[in-house]
Amino acid sequence: MSVPSLDRGQWSGKLGFILAAAGSAIGLGNIWRFPYTAGENGGGAFVLIYLVFVALIGVPVLLAELAIGRKTQRNPVGAFKALVPASWWPLVGGLGVLTGFGILAFYSVVAGWTLGYLFMAVTGALHEATTADVSGTIFTGLVADPLWAIVLSGLFLVLTIVIVRGGVSGGIERATKILMPLLFLILLALAVRATTLPGAVEGIAYLFKPDFSRIDAGVVMAALGQALFSLSLGMGAMITYGSYLPERENMPFAGVSVAIFDTLIAVLAGLIIFPALFAAGGDPSGGPGLVFIVLPTIFNALPGGTVVAIAFYALLAIAALTSTISLLEVVVSYFVDERGWSREKAAWLIGGLCFVLAVPSALSQGAVAALSGGDEGLIAWDFLTLNNNVWGNYSLSIGAILICIFVGWKWGLPNAIASLEASGDRLPAAGAWGVLVKYVCPVVILILLIFIVATGTYF
Ligand code: TRP
Repeated sequence: MSVPSLDRGQWSGKLGFILAAAGSAIGLGNIWRFPYTAGENGGGAFVLIYLVFVALIGVPVLLAELAIGRKTQRNPVGAFKALVPASWWPLVGGLGVLTGFGILAFYSVVAGWTLGYLFMAVTGALHEATTADVSGTIFTGLVADPLWAIVLSGLFLVLTIVIVRGGVSGGIERATKILMPLLFLILLALAVRATTLPGAVEGIAYLFKPDFSRIDAGVVMAALGQALFSLSLGMGAMITYGSYLPERENMPFAGVSVAIFDTLIAVLAGLIIFPALFAAGGDPSGGPGLVFIVLPTIFNALPGGTVVAIAFYALLAIAALTSTISLLEVVVSYFVDERGWSREKAAWLIGGLCFVLAVPSALSQGAVAALSGGDEGLIAWDFLTLNNNVWGNYSLSIGAILICIFVGWKWGLPNAIASLEASGDRLPAAGAWGVLVKYVCPVVILILLIFIVATGTYF
């Protein structure tokens, strides 16, 4: 069956796609969540399992999403509609669009904090963070201040909207072609700085030497959840980005490149954070506060620390921006393709609505007690964490399972492989890929879903 084409924009080529998709994948997940999750889960053993999951689960699901996208050249809802009209499958795309919206509404809050830290690094306000206590107070001062928290996430959303409204090649591709090389440069410079600190070897060993006694079900599940989130899987972001890849381009190559970049950046982020942490005698299991509370104290103790701090928070903000772009783009593409909205209208309206929904998350870090979880809260979780769990954990795993079932059992592997190989380049190990998509991925991700529901864990 052929799908009628719409005039909806395309990447200029492979490189444009790889940078934009790697930009989506590389985000707070790599530089904020990966290091603290690794730190909470024992370091090397977690990293090893994570790498295995990226290869065995992440890459297969990524290719499955890309295959759907390129075949249909549609947003997630339109893609399922084009392949199996008059079925409930488009609802899976609908869940994806909703999830993109849900993730963006809390992700932009944390992304806003990175802007706040960048400002503080530039103005010198961060200089006072010389002890963990003071640094913690600075962090709370920012995230629990209602005005700052709201303004910063709004600002971040405006940046995102301005880029997405520019279109696929004129907005997203143009921005990522500048932002991604900049990100690599900053990251490399920081990694060199961190790994040459006295005492850095201990941090490097922590990241790469697996301590197998630390492995339990929780560590394995955290690694799997991280692999899905980090590669932007389970909600059709890669369906959408794949839909803009011209047929002449080698899709398996482009997809695998994205996964390699994403993984490399997570490891590089670890190579910045853990050596710096160990050199300063810090505790790796500091949790989500790691990059916001622990790192500033380390930067302040370093010669040239101000420059390092500015570079680091600029890096975080850039990484977050290329990810929020992809989250907004999924929702925008739906309204453009399916509802006939102009891109301009969709970007501002969806982005604006997302801002409204981001407000409760922004206020949930201490500004408003009822939203902040704990004893005084309406529910045990604060609103930001609640959103992270619902959209970032449950919904993504459900989406990823359904996408695998769709490709493996409904649409069929031969069709998917034909889409992946449309340029004439072969999908290496196509047989193994089929087995992974059809059996291994859905079962393993289902186990993850059952685990997080049963234990109430979130990552
Ligand atoms: N992958 C991004 C990160 O690591 C976050 C992200 C962007 C995402 N788009 C997504 C996660 C789509 C899941 C689905 O920060």
